[in-house]
Amino acid sequence: MSELRILALPGSLRRASFNRGLLLAAQEILSGRAAVEIFSLDDIPLYNDDVRLAGYPEPVILLRDAIARADALLIGATEYNFGPSGVLKNAIDWASRPPDPPLQGKPFGLVGASTGGFGTVRAQLALRQILLFVQGLGYPSGLHVSGAAKLFDEQGRLTDETTRQNLSNYLDGFLAFLERVGSG
Ligand SMILES: Cc1cc2nc3c(=O)[nH]c(=O)nc-3n(C[C@H](O)[C@H](O)[C@H](O)COP(=O)(O)O)c2cc1C
Repeated sequence: MSELRILALPGSLRRASFNRGLLLAAQEILSGRAAVEIFSLDDIPLYNDDVRLAGYPEPVILLRDAIARADALLIGATEYNFGPSGVLKNAIDWASRPPDPPLQGKPFGLVGASTGGFGTVRAQLALRQILLFVQGLGYPSGLHVSGAAKLFDEQGRLTDETTRQNLSNYLDGFLAFLERVGSG
């Protein structure tokens, strides 16, 4: 059987993003069990339906193809002002449109780290609602990492062992969920 392909989307463009750091740690933890590709959203333009009708821009085609190829998505849910970052919502908007919206039926998991006390719980709730509307298939649990500034180093690498173990437990559950629902 071919290796499980997980596309990881960081919700932040910040170089030392904690959410990117979580996804990098997931890539390490899952090594040998799943191929985790981290797809940076830096080049994705702001959504414009006129542009879509004229033809998807190249970076958006790459994103949509990467989602379509993946068995599942893992999202690093950067929280801004009690909601998902604009970067992430914008990418979802591009991936939600026809033809063959690649998010449809795609299993997804949500992890998130924030400097505040709630570990992106509000962003994750909103993302769950958005992704269910576009017919994604959500793993019911989320990983919420609060007080992130103390848990990552200056490069955004996860250094806290307890958080790494919590992430590892989350990923075990996510993989079991993917086995149950099949790939998207
Ligand atoms: C515009 C803005 C809004 C923010 N709003 C929230 C928030 O609602 N909840 C929260 O926990 N942290 C909030 N933060 C702090 C973020 O958790 C912190 O900047 C975090 O590093 C962002 O994720 P990243 O590391 O992936 O870039 C906000 C930060 C910015 C810049």
